[in-house]
Amino acid sequence: MEIVKTLHSYLAYVALAVLFLAVANAIIGLVGKKIFTMGKDLRLSLFAMILCHIQLLVGLILYFVSANGLKAIQALGMGGLNAPARLLAVEHPFINIIALVLITIGWSRHKKFVEGDKKFKSIAIFYGLGLVLILSRIPWGQWLA
Ligand code: HEM
Repeated sequence: MEIVKTLHSYLAYVALAVLFLAVANAIIGLVGKKIFTMGKDLRLSLFAMILCHIQLLVGLILYFVSANGLKAIQALGMGGLNAPARLLAVEHPFINIIALVLITIGWSRHKKFVEGDKKFKSIAIFYGLGLVLILSRIPWGQWLA
Protein backbone atom coordinates (compact mmCIF):
# COMPACT_ATOMS: atom_id res chain seq x y z
CA MET A 1 0.00 0.00 0.00
CA GLU A 2 1.53 3.23 -1.23
CA ILE A 3 0.00 5.37 1.54
CA VAL A 4 1.70 3.37 4.29
CA LYS A 5 5.05 3.76 2.55
CA THR A 6 4.48 7.50 2.09
CA LEU A 7 3.58 7.88 5.76
CA HIS A 8 6.63 5.86 6.84
CA SER A 9 8.79 7.94 4.53
CA TYR A 10 7.63 11.38 5.82
CA LEU A 11 7.25 10.45 9.47
CA ALA A 12 10.89 9.33 9.33
CA TYR A 13 11.98 13.01 8.98
CA VAL A 14 9.97 14.06 12.03
CA ALA A 15 10.92 11.06 14.18
CA LEU A 16 14.63 11.34 13.33
CA ALA A 17 14.69 15.12 13.86
CA VAL A 18 13.02 14.93 17.28
CA LEU A 19 15.16 11.94 18.29
CA PHE A 20 18.26 13.91 17.31
CA LEU A 21 17.05 16.91 19.36
CA ALA A 22 16.41 14.68 22.38
CA VAL A 23 19.93 13.22 22.17
CA ALA A 24 21.52 16.66 21.71
CA ASN A 25 19.48 18.09 24.58
CA ALA A 26 20.52 15.21 26.87
CA ILE A 27 24.21 15.62 26.00
CA ILE A 28 24.02 19.39 26.56
CA GLY A 29 22.20 18.84 29.87
CA LEU A 30 24.74 16.26 31.00
CA VAL A 31 27.83 18.24 30.02
CA GLY A 32 26.38 21.52 31.31
CA LYS A 33 25.32 19.87 34.59
CA LYS A 34 21.81 21.22 34.12
CA ILE A 35 18.69 20.40 36.11
CA PHE A 36 16.41 17.88 34.39
CA THR A 37 13.13 19.77 34.01
CA MET A 38 9.66 18.23 33.81
CA GLY A 39 8.89 20.75 31.10
CA LYS A 40 11.36 20.74 28.23
CA ASP A 41 13.60 17.81 29.09
CA LEU A 42 10.92 15.31 30.02
CA ARG A 43 8.60 16.33 27.20
CA LEU A 44 11.26 16.22 24.52
CA SER A 45 12.38 12.74 25.61
CA LEU A 46 8.82 11.46 25.78
CA PHE A 47 7.87 13.04 22.46
CA ALA A 48 10.88 11.42 20.78
CA MET A 49 9.98 8.02 22.18
CA ILE A 50 6.33 8.29 21.12
CA LEU A 51 7.21 9.41 17.58
CA CYS A 52 9.73 6.56 17.23
CA HIS A 53 7.11 4.07 18.41
CA ILE A 54 4.56 5.36 15.90
CA GLN A 55 7.23 5.01 13.21
CA LEU A 56 7.90 1.46 14.41
CA LEU A 57 4.20 0.56 14.15
CA VAL A 58 3.90 2.03 10.66
CA GLY A 59 7.10 0.16 9.75
CA LEU A 60 5.63 -3.11 11.02
CA ILE A 61 2.53 -2.61 8.88
CA LEU A 62 4.71 -1.71 5.91
CA TYR A 63 6.71 -4.87 6.44
CA PHE A 64 3.61 -6.95 5.71
CA VAL A 65 2.12 -4.90 2.86
CA SER A 66 5.23 -3.81 0.93
CA ALA A 67 6.71 -5.86 -1.89
CA ASN A 68 10.11 -5.08 -0.37
CA GLY A 69 9.28 -6.49 3.07
CA LEU A 70 8.18 -10.01 3.97
CA LYS A 71 6.93 -10.64 0.44
CA ALA A 72 10.48 -10.28 -0.90
CA ILE A 73 11.66 -13.02 1.46
CA GLN A 74 8.73 -15.24 0.51
CA ALA A 75 9.40 -14.73 -3.18
CA LEU A 76 13.17 -15.09 -3.24
CA GLY A 77 14.10 -16.85 -0.01
CA MET A 78 16.61 -15.43 2.45
CA GLY A 79 19.54 -16.52 0.30
CA GLY A 80 18.01 -15.04 -2.83
CA LEU A 81 18.09 -11.44 -1.55
CA ASN A 82 20.87 -9.22 -2.85
CA ALA A 83 22.36 -6.56 -0.55
CA PRO A 84 19.85 -3.73 -1.24
CA ALA A 85 16.90 -6.14 -0.93
CA ARG A 86 18.31 -7.60 2.29
CA LEU A 87 18.67 -4.09 3.73
CA LEU A 88 14.94 -3.43 3.26
CA ALA A 89 13.56 -6.85 4.15
CA VAL A 90 15.92 -7.89 6.94
CA GLU A 91 18.51 -5.44 8.26
CA HIS A 92 16.42 -2.25 8.43
CA PRO A 93 13.45 -3.88 10.24
CA PHE A 94 15.62 -5.99 12.57
CA ILE A 95 18.05 -3.24 13.58
CA ASN A 96 15.25 -0.71 14.05
CA ILE A 97 13.36 -2.99 16.39
CA ILE A 98 16.56 -3.31 18.45
CA ALA A 99 16.99 0.49 18.33
CA LEU A 100 13.46 0.95 19.67
CA VAL A 101 14.13 -1.51 22.48
CA LEU A 102 17.21 0.54 23.45
CA ILE A 103 15.26 3.81 23.31
CA THR A 104 12.52 2.31 25.49
CA ILE A 105 15.16 1.11 28.00
CA GLY A 106 16.65 4.62 28.06
CA TRP A 107 13.24 6.09 28.77
CA SER A 108 12.35 3.70 31.61
CA ARG A 109 15.83 3.90 33.15
CA HIS A 110 15.70 7.69 33.22
CA LYS A 111 12.50 7.53 35.27
CA LYS A 112 14.16 5.48 38.00
CA PHE A 113 16.75 8.14 38.74
CA VAL A 114 16.23 11.26 40.82
CA GLU A 115 19.52 12.95 39.91
CA GLY A 116 19.41 15.04 36.76
CA ASP A 117 22.82 13.91 35.49
CA LYS A 118 21.79 10.25 35.60
CA LYS A 119 18.55 11.02 33.79
CA PHE A 120 20.41 12.93 31.06
CA LYS A 121 23.02 10.17 30.84
CA SER A 122 20.40 7.45 30.38
CA ILE A 123 18.71 9.38 27.58
CA ALA A 124 22.00 10.40 25.97
CA ILE A 125 23.43 6.86 25.88
CA PHE A 126 20.37 4.76 24.99
CA TYR A 127 18.66 7.23 22.66
CA GLY A 128 22.07 7.98 21.15
CA LEU A 129 22.76 4.30 20.48
CA GLY A 130 19.28 3.91 19.03
CA LEU A 131 19.80 6.88 16.74
CA VAL A 132 23.14 5.55 15.48
CA LEU A 133 21.61 2.11 14.82
CA ILE A 134 18.67 3.62 12.93
CA LEU A 135 20.95 5.86 10.83
CA SER A 136 23.18 2.89 10.03
CA ARG A 137 20.34 1.03 8.30
CA ILE A 138 18.32 3.71 6.51
CA PRO A 139 17.87 2.96 2.80
CA TRP A 140 19.37 6.40 2.02
CA GLY A 141 19.49 6.11 -1.77
CA GLN A 142 15.85 5.11 -2.04
CA TRP A 143 14.62 7.56 0.62
CA LEU A 144 16.24 10.71 -0.70
CA ALA A 145 15.87 9.80 -4.37
C1 HEM B 1 11.89 3.29 13.85
C2 HEM B 1 12.67 3.83 12.99
C3 HEM B 1 12.51 3.71 11.51
C4 HEM B 1 12.85 4.70 10.63
C5 HEM B 1 13.44 6.07 10.96
C6 HEM B 1 12.55 4.19 9.30
C7 HEM B 1 12.77 4.88 8.14
C8 HEM B 1 12.58 4.38 6.86
C9 HEM B 1 12.86 5.09 5.65
C10 HEM B 1 13.41 6.52 5.58
C11 HEM B 1 12.56 4.28 4.61
C12 HEM B 1 12.67 4.61 3.11
C13 HEM B 1 11.34 5.13 2.67
C14 HEM B 1 11.33 5.53 1.22
O1 HEM B 1 11.86 4.80 0.39
O2 HEM B 1 10.77 6.59 0.91
C15 HEM B 1 12.07 3.03 5.15
C16 HEM B 1 11.65 1.95 4.42
C17 HEM B 1 11.16 0.77 4.93
N1 HEM B 1 10.95 0.51 6.27
FE1 HEM B 1 11.45 1.71 7.85
N2 HEM B 1 12.02 2.92 9.41
C18 HEM B 1 11.97 2.58 10.73
C19 HEM B 1 11.52 1.38 11.26
C20 HEM B 1 11.04 0.31 10.52
C21 HEM B 1 10.59 -0.95 11.07
C22 HEM B 1 10.60 -1.30 12.55
C23 HEM B 1 10.19 -1.73 10.02
C24 HEM B 1 9.63 -3.13 9.97
C25 HEM B 1 9.42 -3.92 11.00
C26 HEM B 1 10.40 -0.97 8.81
C27 HEM B 1 10.11 -1.42 7.54
C28 HEM B 1 10.43 -0.78 6.38
C29 HEM B 1 10.29 -1.36 5.06
C30 HEM B 1 9.75 -2.76 4.73
C31 HEM B 1 10.74 -0.40 4.14
C32 HEM B 1 10.80 -0.53 2.61
C33 HEM B 1 9.50 -0.07 2.02
C34 HEM B 1 9.46 -0.21 0.51
O3 HEM B 1 10.46 0.02 -0.17
O4 HEM B 1 8.39 -0.59 0.01
N3 HEM B 1 10.91 0.28 9.15
N4 HEM B 1 12.08 3.13 6.52
